[in-house]
Amino acid sequence: MGVSGSGKTTVATGVARRLGWDFTEGDDHHPAANVAKMKAGQALDDEDRWPWLRDLAAWIGAHEGEGRSCVLTCSALKRSYRDLLRDGHPSVWFAHVSGSQELIAERVQKRQGHYMPPSLVPSQFATLEPLGDDEPGRVLPASGSPEQAVDELLADLSRDRGVPLP
Ligand SMILES: Nc1ncnc2c1ncn2[C@@H]1O[C@H](COP(=O)(O)OP(=O)(O)O)[C@@H](O)[C@H]1O
Ligand SMILES: [Mg+2]
Repeated sequence: MGVSGSGKTTVATGVARRLGWDFTEGDDHHPAANVAKMKAGQALDDEDRWPWLRDLAAWIGAHEGEGRSCVLTCSALKRSYRDLLRDGHPSVWFAHVSGSQELIAERVQKRQGHYMPPSLVPSQFATLEPLGDDEPGRVLPASGSPEQAVDELLADLSRDRGVPLP
C-alpha cells in the first residue's frame, strides 16, 4: 500500500521474485473508466474505487482459498479500503511504502509509462490514512533502497507470519 509513486510496484516485484509468489498489480484491475478519469487528472472517489477493491479482494480470496501465497499492489489509501481487502481474509498483511510528498512528487514526475499524472499526488496524500496499530503489517521508508525495503519486509513477514525466508 501507499500513494502512487511511493514504490509499491518496485518493492512488490522484489518480494514476489524473492519468494516466488504469485503477483498482481492493483492498477491493472481498474476498469477503463477509472483509468480514463485518472489520465484526465481527476482523482477517483469512493464510488469509483469500491468495485475495483472488491475485485482485488476476490483475487486475494481465490488465492487464500487455494492456500497460495501472493503479493498484490494496491494504494489502499483509506482504512475502509483496507478493511474491505481484509474482510474474510485473515492472511492479509500490509506493507506501507511511505515517503514525503516532496520525494514522491519528484518520482512521479520522472516516472515513464504510467498513467498517473503528477497533479494527482496532493490528492493521494490528502486521502491517505496511515496504517493503524491494530492493522497487520508495517511501514517501510520510501527513501531507502528497494533491496533494503524488501529485506526489512521479509524479516517482519517471517517473524509475524512464519514465512520461510529464501
Ligand atoms: N526505493 C527507491 N529508490 C529510488 N527510486 C525508486 C524507489 N522505489 C521506486 N522508485 C522509482 O520511483 C518511481 C515510482 O515507483 P513505483 O514502484 O512505480 O511506485 P508505485 O507502484 O507505488 O506507484 C519509479 O520510477 C521507480 O523506479
Ligand atoms: Mg505501481
